Amino acid sequence: MCGIFGYVTVRDECARIVVDSLRKLEYRGYDSWGVGIGLNGHIRVVKRAGRIPPISPDLPASSIAFGHTRWATHGGVTDANAHPHLDCTGRLAVIHNGIIENFRKLRAELESNGHRFASDTDSEVFAHLVEQVLHAGDDADPDAVVEAVRSAFARVEGLNAFILLHHCTQQLIAVKSISPLVIGAGKGGTYVASDAVALVGLADRVHYLGDDEVAAIRADGLHLYDRADGSERVPRWERLTLQPTDTSLEGFPHYLIKEIHEQPRVLERILREHPPRARELANLITRSYGTFLVGCGTAGYAALAGSYLFSRIARRHVNSVVASEFKYQEHFLTDRSLVIALSQSGETVDVIEAALAAKRRGARVAALVNVTGSTLDRLADFTIPLLAGPELSVLSTKAYTAKLALLLLTAHVINGSEHVGLDLLWRAIDGMVRALTPDSQDRVKAIADRIADHQHCFVIGRGLSYPTALEAALKIKEVSYLHAEGFAGGELKHGVIALVEPGVPCIVFSPLDETRADILSGAMELRSRGGWIIGVSPEHEAVFDAHLPVAEAGDASPLVNVVPAQLLGYYLAVRKGLDPDKPRNLAKSVTVK
Ligand code: F6R
Repeated sequence: MCGIFGYVTVRDECARIVVDSLRKLEYRGYDSWGVGIGLNGHIRVVKRAGRIPPISPDLPASSIAFGHTRWATHGGVTDANAHPHLDCTGRLAVIHNGIIENFRKLRAELESNGHRFASDTDSEVFAHLVEQVLHAGDDADPDAVVEAVRSAFARVEGLNAFILLHHCTQQLIAVKSISPLVIGAGKGGTYVASDAVALVGLADRVHYLGDDEVAAIRADGLHLYDRADGSERVPRWERLTLQPTDTSLEGFPHYLIKEIHEQPRVLERILREHPPRARELANLITRSYGTFLVGCGTAGYAALAGSYLFSRIARRHVNSVVASEFKYQEHFLTDRSLVIALSQSGETVDVIEAALAAKRRGARVAALVNVTGSTLDRLADFTIPLLAGPELSVLSTKAYTAKLALLLLTAHVINGSEHVGLDLLWRAIDGMVRALTPDSQDRVKAIADRIADHQHCFVIGRGLSYPTALEAALKIKEVSYLHAEGFAGGELKHGVIALVEPGVPCIVFSPLDETRADILSGAMELRSRGGWIIGVSPEHEAVFDAHLPVAEAGDASPLVNVVPAQLLGYYLAVRKGLDPDKPRNLAKSVTVK
């Protein structure tokens, strides 16, 4: 979940490009940041707890430097625990993403051998481990340093990515297990980052580092080795297709609102480019015996919505399982099962583990994933790219609706009604555009003003709107810190209603489907206990205290109805003076358990 960036160039670059690139990766973690710069005879480390300051610190020019943004796992958020970490001699420095699962044992061993630690992190262990295997005479031999990294990495347990800066041999050495690293080349330099987004404008081609490789980045470019036997390998370069506009705000004040607005365009791309892929996925599903949709957080809610869509449209039982719970339920997988993994980043460790478990049992893995070249993309047997473009706000929005669009279309393909699915997606686009007009946004803003000071908010929906209620509550609470809980409308009487007090905001999703009568009864029950009812519905009802009108979109209603909830989360955060793109404690790629 940490951001990693490094470069080696032939000329002296301003080390400020490390800081500028780290800003693009801050969504991966923003507890603290740090830079290591290779200078004549030593490594200069600058690191601080907190966010990267808006004005970059003064840093010396150098041909080799790297940096890190942290999402703390081991050790509190302090300057000392920020990365990079040095070995005892200061001749090498390490940045890290992941968790060294056996770090206590390794640290005890290193301390008993006389190594002195300067932080509480697991990451520092790796610097001392390499130091331990690196003999004094090896300092001038670049290959010997690679060897030391290979053998140190063999002792580390867990899913990790490390970059080591060795200033005597002027190289960065990268090694990983599952946790992502991408090498970029272009404009006179070679770069390494945890996400290709950081390479936009710097590199024109990329090599996604494999778990079976070790990369040494030197002034003359990338040297690739086999992690098992150290033999040389040939990089698999691919063109970097991301454009600077993909990562710019394009006039919006925040990425969150920009990405909410991009949703109709993303759906149009899916409509234009993805029907053939939806047919292939439909084919995989109909040939499988047992299909499981897995995902975490927002992607988990997309999986749940998928199970409703396949049931009502395709008459197929497709299970949805929260990816972090999948390993406790995987025992029934066979070589005829299909696991469909949903993920924006393609790096969420629980999703990766679910996919790996499926592969171990001979099941097929299909992935709906936004980041091309991500771990999930590479390990799946079949991938449908979400075509949403980089999602840089920590909150997932456009990747969510992209997943719903693909699942809806696939369900219709299975049902033999692809054209109906396509029509529904056009209706969803139209509904989204209407939900994003200035008038619609003003209505949402007025509700944000009205409820901002409340402590709690309840959100209900039934059927297809149940996952929407869960997702709406997540959007609101994670960005505005207003405690919002989503429930199935029918569950209210079974306990939740005890929490409803006069004035408490209650959002009710009420499309014109078979759930309408029952959900409106639920709304009435909430109102009778003083709840302030916000209806998200194509038609006004007497029970609503406030109404957010939405277009009627049939089975595509989840794609449209989630938009006012996304906007409500955004405007609540703005009103409270919070950063909508980087809520506290969160990070975008959840690469640790
Ligand atoms: C919520 C959010 C998270 C992610 C979850 C899975 O707005 O962004 O709940 O959906 O961490 O992430 P991906 O989709 O990258 O696997």
